[in-house]
Amino acid sequence: MLKDLILKNRSYRRFDQSAIVPMRLLRSMVEAARLSASARNMQPLRYMLFNDSYSCGKIFPTLAWAGYMKEWPGPEDGERPSAYIVQLGDLELTNDWWCDDGIAAQSMLLTAVEQEFGGCIIGSVQREKLRDILNIPERYKIIQVLALGKPAEEVVIDEIANDDIKYWRDEEGVHHVPKRGIDELIIR
Ligand SMILES: Cc1cc2nc3c(=O)[nH]c(=O)nc-3n(C[C@H](O)[C@H](O)[C@H](O)COP(=O)(O)O)c2cc1C
Repeated sequence: MLKDLILKNRSYRRFDQSAIVPMRLLRSMVEAARLSASARNMQPLRYMLFNDSYSCGKIFPTLAWAGYMKEWPGPEDGERPSAYIVQLGDLELTNDWWCDDGIAAQSMLLTAVEQEFGGCIIGSVQREKLRDILNIPERYKIIQVLALGKPAEEVVIDEIANDDIKYWRDEEGVHHVPKRGIDELIIR
């Protein structure tokens, strides 16, 4: 069951923009993050939740999509995320959250996928622009953004060939993600 969820939890970049992500789901995603591991149990991460089209329209232009797919400018109108979670670090608590951000992101995305939603971690963010748009105080560092919605694309995992890690999209619009085999990961 957990493996099924992990398999389904792909990075989705095209959505049915008309599908609202309920605020209660965004809150339950933060609840999953809240219950996750935290270095020194400092719990320095904070979250801003958005599921309205006005805010989503403001956030979208600050994000960069699928760096390997140079010819694709990102999701077009109608297939853009209908919600975002902006993950922040409270610098008054610490400026080193080790890997809390990734653990929390995975917990949140698994929660979304379990409810037939999905998303993509966006690390390539125009942070100062986003800070201005959302009026985020300097106290908080913008770590990353989760772009969320009802996935409207098929994503499949392929065995890696010729060490080529670049994801790509085929003529049918299916997104392919090459993954290294387990024997490459385990060092004997
Ligand atoms: C920390 C982190 C930052 C990422 N930043 C971006 C990003 O800025 N834009 C994007 O389109 N995808 C981003 N991704 C998604 C990766 O490209 C994706 O995880 C990878 O292609 C593997 O696909 P999968 O998540 O379906 O396994 C990011 C993923 C991680 C973990």
